[in-house]
Amino acid sequence: MKIRTLLSPLNVEELYFTKKTTVVIDVLRATTTIVEALNNGAREIIPVSSIEFAMKVSGGGQMLLGGERNAEKIDGFALGNSPLDYTKEEVNGKSIVLFTTNGSKALVRAKFSTNLFVGSFRNANSVVKKIFQTKEDLEILCSGNYGMFCLEDSICAGMMIEQILQENDNVDLDDASNTCLILYKKYKRNIKKMLSETDHGKNLIAKGFEADIAFTALENTCDIVPYYKDGVVKI
Ligand code: MLT
Repeated sequence: MKIRTLLSPLNVEELYFTKKTTVVIDVLRATTTIVEALNNGAREIIPVSSIEFAMKVSGGGQMLLGGERNAEKIDGFALGNSPLDYTKEEVNGKSIVLFTTNGSKALVRAKFSTNLFVGSFRNANSVVKKIFQTKEDLEILCSGNYGMFCLEDSICAGMMIEQILQENDNVDLDDASNTCLILYKKYKRNIKKMLSETDHGKNLIAKGFEADIAFTALENTCDIVPYYKDGVVKI
């Protein structure tokens, strides 16, 4: 099995993902939020890459609009991008159109993948089990931060890679995957602290979202694996 990790979506075109099995990670916070929304009974999430398109597909109020710009809720949207907003009361049975700065765009970028999973610290273990079921090579797409590398997505990638290596002794890692594994080993003892010291973690804390850091750091506390198909993410 080969694992390639893309440290940001910047230099990959949509068609690159054709016939690939891909996991998209945006720990802070889009993929953690998607996992939580679906875990709390949301019917589906429709990730989009622009606010205008979000408005267009939301069907005049039929669907909930969620997401952020500069980490804050967007004017006219029902929900922000804090996973803690996506409670059972808010989302049960609902379709949610989600726009975020990096994470929803990364999902759209990878949309031609044959298998496209949504990963985070909360469901990493279950994602790895699904990957084994596909028996395919793996692409891990880190959403990054405005096209740049970010530590938290790479470390979550490293966590999945370590687990894959524990269960499969015939894995070929590219340089980026090896780097993610090294970073995970360095930081794994205190994921919450690591998150709070990242660029985006510090930004979220400054904006009052400290509780999101603690929540996104909860490792393997959820066993659902959101799956993207035909424009929507479901379980
Ligand atoms: C993103 O997609 O960039 C994020 O999830 C930003 C955030 O809401 O923290």
